[in-house]
Amino acid sequence: MKNTAVALSPEANAMLERIASIWPPIIRQGRRGRILRMLDLLAQSRKTKKADTQLVIEAARMVVPKSYDPLFHMFEDMEGFKKRMLEPFVSEEAYTSIPVRVRRWPHKTPRKKPPACPAKRIVAFCASPRAHGNTDLLVDEALRGAHDAGALTEKIMLHKLHMDFCIGCRKCKDPGFEKICVIRDDMEAVYQKILDADSLIIGFPIYTGRECAQLSTFLDRWDGYERYMLKSCLEPGRTAMVIGTWGYPCIDTYDHVIENIISILNLHKVEAVEALSACGFEGLRHGLDEKRKGVIARHPKELKKAYAAGRALALR
Ligand SMILES: Cc1cc2nc3c(=O)[nH]c(=O)nc-3n(C[C@H](O)[C@H](O)[C@H](O)COP(=O)(O)O)c2cc1C
Repeated sequence: MKNTAVALSPEANAMLERIASIWPPIIRQGRRGRILRMLDLLAQSRKTKKADTQLVIEAARMVVPKSYDPLFHMFEDMEGFKKRMLEPFVSEEAYTSIPVRVRRWPHKTPRKKPPACPAKRIVAFCASPRAHGNTDLLVDEALRGAHDAGALTEKIMLHKLHMDFCIGCRKCKDPGFEKICVIRDDMEAVYQKILDADSLIIGFPIYTGRECAQLSTFLDRWDGYERYMLKSCLEPGRTAMVIGTWGYPCIDTYDHVIENIISILNLHKVEAVEALSACGFEGLRHGLDEKRKGVIARHPKELKKAYAAGRALALR
């Protein structure tokens, strides 16, 4: 096992093996190697030659995405993990006390008064298939804020669109191709709505550690905006807000997925100026109340952050 300058205590070594064992052999060696290299760097910066279990966990956390949080929480405190993560699936009391949180990402404060120019056109895309679920309610609240600030707003539920997968024909890259995409479906109208919009709101739930498939499919179809020789038919100037929601009750576990969506928008010259992370939507009724409405509705203080962000988006 030894190919590191730092000496691992037997417990630290056991922890390293425990962590590595979660991965199949085909990736285990590579990941273990990266953890050891990170361990060396950490030990050097702490001016120590010994590693304990805590340092191993710290190094491992630095080489895998934040979505591994639940695993590390399990390793660090199994009882706490069970209480926080598993009890809400069996106990009504634990379910209703899940820490539901919304985090508004650092943002520039917009002007206080709406600008004296035509009302902004804001189109929101909700990628969650659950109407009145948490993503949908956060999107609605953001739109309400934008509307109150004078914007013209519209919401589109992605799962209601007839939207096919990108077929990879690359016709959109032909020099003489005049449409955006060869596929004749509801995206034809949506492409135009995006072109006509000043700002966009994109809300999505995390499914299996990444954005849900509705959003993936939607963003693949945006490739049609990118033309011959990488020229985009989306001019710079559009702004956006990205809202990501998930079950695990930790507010930054999937921020990297939100960052990824922000980067994809950036490729298309759309600048995300607002982002929200929202968590705590799992357990007995999987984030819904008895009436199948998102539990976020019971957290007005958290919802208010979506309203403020929507308002700010409209006032920029
Ligand atoms: C197929 C599926 C996979 C999911 N995977 C994850 C996951 O990997 N991590 C997580 O924290 N929550 C996961 N969830 C929970 C959802 O992210 C969470 O309930 C979400 O906020 C639901 O949003 P909605 O109320 O707008 O539908 C998953 C839910 C579904 C349906």
